[in-house]
Amino acid sequence: MSSNVAPATPVKSTGLHVGEASPGVAKRDPILIANQVRRQFGGLTAVDVEHLEIPRHAITALIGPNGAGKTTLFNLLTGFDTANTGTWSFNGKSLAGVSAFKVARMGLIRTFQLTKALSLLTVMDNMKLGSTQQLGEKLWASVFPMLWRKKESEIEEQALDLLARFNLDSKKDDYAASLSGGQRKLLEMARALMTKPEFVMLDEPMAGVNPALTQSLLEHILNLKKAGMTVLFVEHDMHMVRHIADWVIVMAEGKVIAEGSPDEVMKNPAVVDAYLGSHQDIDLGTVTGRITLPKIGKGK
Ligand SMILES: Nc1ncnc2c1ncn2[C@@H]1O[C@H](COP(=O)(O)OP(=O)(O)OP(=O)(O)O)[C@@H](O)[C@H]1O
Ligand SMILES: [Mg+2]
Repeated sequence: MSSNVAPATPVKSTGLHVGEASPGVAKRDPILIANQVRRQFGGLTAVDVEHLEIPRHAITALIGPNGAGKTTLFNLLTGFDTANTGTWSFNGKSLAGVSAFKVARMGLIRTFQLTKALSLLTVMDNMKLGSTQQLGEKLWASVFPMLWRKKESEIEEQALDLLARFNLDSKKDDYAASLSGGQRKLLEMARALMTKPEFVMLDEPMAGVNPALTQSLLEHILNLKKAGMTVLFVEHDMHMVRHIADWVIVMAEGKVIAEGSPDEVMKNPAVVDAYLGSHQDIDLGTVTGRITLPKIGKGK
């Protein structure tokens, strides 16, 4: 028996959009709708999205070269940054100007490209911090310590459950600093789930993860969809995108330049010419215009 058994092909969701797949195409059941979202840093327009809809109960990949504006868009949509213009709504409720904390409470949670696990806290304490149901901060909880303790133990139980699912239960009392890069990514995803979100946005969940953990991370992302959640994730590896994404959105220089199923998008001549080239398995690389090409000899 080979030890390299290929993982089962995930069942893809289809029929997500209405009409021809093009940038900003309407979705049959959008969980998030954004209009004219712009963010400028000095003279640089980092995000300039006319219209965007994210399909519910599907896994959508957000791809594009370094500096395309993917992380900035995540920051804006989740209340970690302020847009210059634009409106966006989650489940029909406007999120523009809503703080990150409230956005998370409403059911939209995100993880970070550089993990935000707090090194000097234990794995369990990191998990507890992820819970929006923490009552400790509330005045009445200190007035009714019995209630507070009950809630605390419920939170702990939920955390242990999640840690077990992510194979981190044996590490619950270790400092997050002692985890490998991949385990921190797992911890960050597990912590995000403490809020019981409806929509999970993952910024490069696989980056820096050693190959032994990659498959497990992929399975976790697929499981989020199986559990009824909606996923939007940023990824540079086109094999992974093709494997798990139901829908792909391509950004470049702040704009959405293509959308479609993974196969359609990767066949789209504009995307192939500008981003994929012959490196479909490595990175989308650089692009024309604002993004500095390596031969010019400048970093991003
Ligand atoms: N706080 C900031 N101040 C100034 N410029 C910024 C800031 N944040 C992002 N930028 C710039 O905005 C552009 C978009 O950056 P962003 O991080 O959103 O890209 P990205 O698509 O996530 O790239 P990567 O694939 O490298 O993570 C880049 O040119 C970046 O340098
Ligand atoms: Mg980024």
